[in-house]
Parts: sequence; C-alpha cells; structure tokens
Amino acid sequence: MTRVALAFSGGLDTTVCVPLLEEEYGYDEVVGVTVDVGQPDEEFVEAEETADALGLEHYVVDATEAFAELCFDAVRANATYQGYPLGTALARPVIAQAILDVALDNDCEALAHGATGKGNDQLRFEAVWRASELNVVAPIREKGLTRQWERDYAAERELPVEMGNEGIWSIDTNLWSRSVEGGELEEPGHVPSEEIYEWTEAPGTETEEVEITFTEGRPVAVDGDAMDPVPLVEHLNQRAGPYGIGRTDVMEDRLLGLKVRENYEHPAATVLLNAHKGLESLVLTKEERGFKRRVDDRWAEKAYEGLVDAPLVDALEGFVNETQTKVTGTVTVRFEGGQARVVGQESPYAVYEAAFASFSTEDVGDITQADATGVAKYHGFQERFANRVRERGDAETED
Ligand code: ARG
Repeated sequence: MTRVALAFSGGLDTTVCVPLLEEEYGYDEVVGVTVDVGQPDEEFVEAEETADALGLEHYVVDATEAFAELCFDAVRANATYQGYPLGTALARPVIAQAILDVALDNDCEALAHGATGKGNDQLRFEAVWRASELNVVAPIREKGLTRQWERDYAAERELPVEMGNEGIWSIDTNLWSRSVEGGELEEPGHVPSEEIYEWTEAPGTETEEVEITFTEGRPVAVDGDAMDPVPLVEHLNQRAGPYGIGRTDVMEDRLLGLKVRENYEHPAATVLLNAHKGLESLVLTKEERGFKRRVDDRWAEKAYEGLVDAPLVDALEGFVNETQTKVTGTVTVRFEGGQARVVGQESPYAVYEAAFASFSTEDVGDITQADATGVAKYHGFQERFANRVRERGDAETED
C-alpha cells in the first residue's frame, strides 16, 4: 500500500492532483492536508467539501500559533522583501513542516504539491521536504500542465471544482498578508481597481492613535491590553485596514528571475514593523542600527527563499537577539491617510536624555560645550587640506 500526502487547498491545481497521483503516479492512496495559517473560514469549507466529494482522506492542521511566532521573528528583523512583509514566504515552511509531520504519522512514502514550475512555492515547500527521506512529487510542474488543461481535465472527470469560482485573480491569504496576482494585474501599466482589496479601504481623513508595547522586540500588548500573537495580529488587521494602511503594489523579482506584478494587503504587519523600527531608533546606537540593516536584509532574503532554517539565519538571529534585549517599550502609532506613522516612543533602554541633546541646559558628565571647539577645528581637516593640495598641484602642473 503506497500513500502520498498532498498539500491540499481544494482549488483547481490541488484537486486535479488527486486523480493524477493515483493514476499517473500509481499511488494507492492520497492523503490531503490543509494547514491553517490564518486563511478565511471559507477556504476550509471549500477544502472540506472538495475532499468529501473526492472521497479524500483529509487532515486540517492548525499552525496559526507557530506561524504568528515566525511573523514576530520577522518583526524583530524588520523583514520586508522589495517592500512586501513576506506573508506567503513565511507561511510556506510552516505549512511544509506541518504536512511532513502528517505524512510521517500516516505512513506516507511521498509528499506532493500543486505548485507550478514558475513560482517560489515549489522551492520553499521542497526545501523543507527534501530534508526528509520521503519522495517529492510535483504533478503540475512535472507534467507541464496549464490551467486550461486542468479545467478541461476536471470537466471531463467531473471533479468537484467550482469553475466559476476560480476567479480573475490568484489570491493567497494568511494571518500576515493577502496577496493578489494575475488577470489584468499582469499588465504592469494597469492601475488596479479598488475591487482587488479586501482587508483595506481607500484612505480617508479619519485618524486614530494606537499604542503598541514590545518586550524584547516582540509585540505583546495593544493599548495596554496584553494579547497573544494571533489575536494581536487579527486585531490590528481589522483596526488599521479601514485607514488604507498596508497596501503594496510591486514588480517583484521571484527566485527564478521572473518578475511578477504583485499586490499585497498587510495592515497589521505595517503597523508592527513601523512601530518596531521606531522603538529601535530610540534604544539602539547608530552603529547597531546601521549594521542591523544589513543583518535584517539578509534575514529577509532567506525568508523570501523559504530558508528560515538556514544556518546563516541562526547566526543572523544571534545578532538580532542580542539587539532585541533592549527593544522593550511602548510606541504610539497614528493611523492617518493610508499610513501608520510613529508619533511617540518610550523605553527604559532609551539611549537618550533630553538634557544632553537640548540647547538650553546641562553638559554631558564632565564634558562642557567648550570642549566641542577642538572637535569642530578637526572636523573636515583632511578634506580642507586635500582641496588645498589639489589647487596647488593643479597650479604647478598647469604649464
Ligand atoms: N509572490 C509572492 C511570494 O512568492 C506571493 C505569491 C502569492 N500567491 C498568489 N497566488 N497570490 O512570496
């Protein structure tokens, strides 16, 4: 008896994979696995109904907490890729791991996904799966199937796909972001209509202030109310969305070098990332901030690749963790005109004393204002000297 675990959403691609895995790949049984990373409820209804109609053995795994933890790791690393807070990218390793666990618990010898050969997800899933002993199969990619072929096949085989429901856009939703691609959006010059948005409204003139509290770089409370990661993110998505916060429209460079026109909505991610950066600006030194930008960039690149388990990421997190020991405090964010603007921050670790910076009063320790005269004399010394030498040299070599 051979069994294969399939990453199953109940959409066209994964539905078509079920008979293909049995008939073309020769597996006796297909086990469908749907992993909850905060998709809307309708998606689970669709998955369950489709699995039932196919007579598929089906598991739903709740990975929302593990996913939210990873999103908060991303906050600590200020992680964005080409402007996008990595919702899809961060979810994939979590989903892949959950499916692998189900496969191992259920005597499967192989793992399958319905991703195409053009996108990032094939790479992200397989990076996790290929660390196991199980076989990996990707029917859509391996057979070079097109959406049209799949639709015809589904119709001919009377597979339970809602043809009308396949939509104009391809949408991927989880707790951290909602992504919309395809249809007329594939034309880079096309200006997206408001219809593509579901989490955000067009920015209006209302404003609101929200206080976010962080402990060691992790968001822990909103307006003083302690919240667990999942409800905290859900709350901010709902609260910031109506202000039009967290819309990103990018020409994104995928891992294989192909570009894709991608639209994202991520209100909570934008609020938390902005607030976190605001707090870091108060508690980290200039050098720490500058160096951390490079560390953060590398962290985000690895996350985009789906390689958050890379040894490099552990090493980068060594640095991130050390810096985050001071990122404790509260940030006030104002929602206004599509933005989540940091308007206040406080922390016991603030590298700041009003008296030092202000013009009016005290000196810093035993350093007096007059001590700056020596610094001012030296500042730019080499540049002034070099300019003078240059003039003199030019004059000498003129004839
Ligand atoms: N391009 C993004 C990424 O690879 C998101 C893709 C989401 N998929 C979708 N069908 N909208 O991270």
